[in-house]
Amino acid sequence: MPKKKEPLIRVLLSKEEIEKRVALLGQEISKKYFNLEEPLILVGILKGSVIFLSDLCRAISLPVELEFMGVSSYGDETESSGVVQITQDLTRPIKGRHVLLVEDIVDTGLTAKYLLKHFRTCEPASVAMCSLLEKPGKSNGEILIDFLGFSIPDDFVVGYGLDFAGIYRNLPYVGIVETST
Ligand code: PRP
Repeated sequence: MPKKKEPLIRVLLSKEEIEKRVALLGQEISKKYFNLEEPLILVGILKGSVIFLSDLCRAISLPVELEFMGVSSYGDETESSGVVQITQDLTRPIKGRHVLLVEDIVDTGLTAKYLLKHFRTCEPASVAMCSLLEKPGKSNGEILIDFLGFSIPDDFVVGYGLDFAGIYRNLPYVGIVETST
């Protein structure tokens, strides 16, 4: 059988650019939460955030706890289905705790909007959002990202946690999938 043609991926954010930005985000977050009495809870939204979260948590110079939440709205599609599903919940209560949601990307903002609303019902002391990427204008300014890595154009991106049909998450850079003609 002939080998399936691989799509071309053009580097948008290099490994070095990402490393520098993540280090700065870690400093910003450490400064903002420096006087907490209990560890900050970082909630990584599966699966896309895992690479970013693992680098980000090591750039934060404060005690943190890690939690994960499984959410899916895309499946294997490139367009959001418009329906957010929780596929895995937190392992402990967050009432009275400071929580930082960690996302790889805020695209339409649907997932972030749903999650922020959901988390506020759990009565945390505070809930904030950190995202590596956002596509400006797509969420109509509805989502406030407290800690943002990069604003990017409205292209389909992969790498550093982001996938295309489940693959490319392990690329060390963020790239644009070029559609071949
Ligand atoms: C991606 C990403 C965000 C969401 C953002 O998740 O990780 O959670 O889409 O899109 P939105 O702003 O349009 O809602 P996806 O559903 O692809 O799952 P994955 O993280 O497992 O790849």
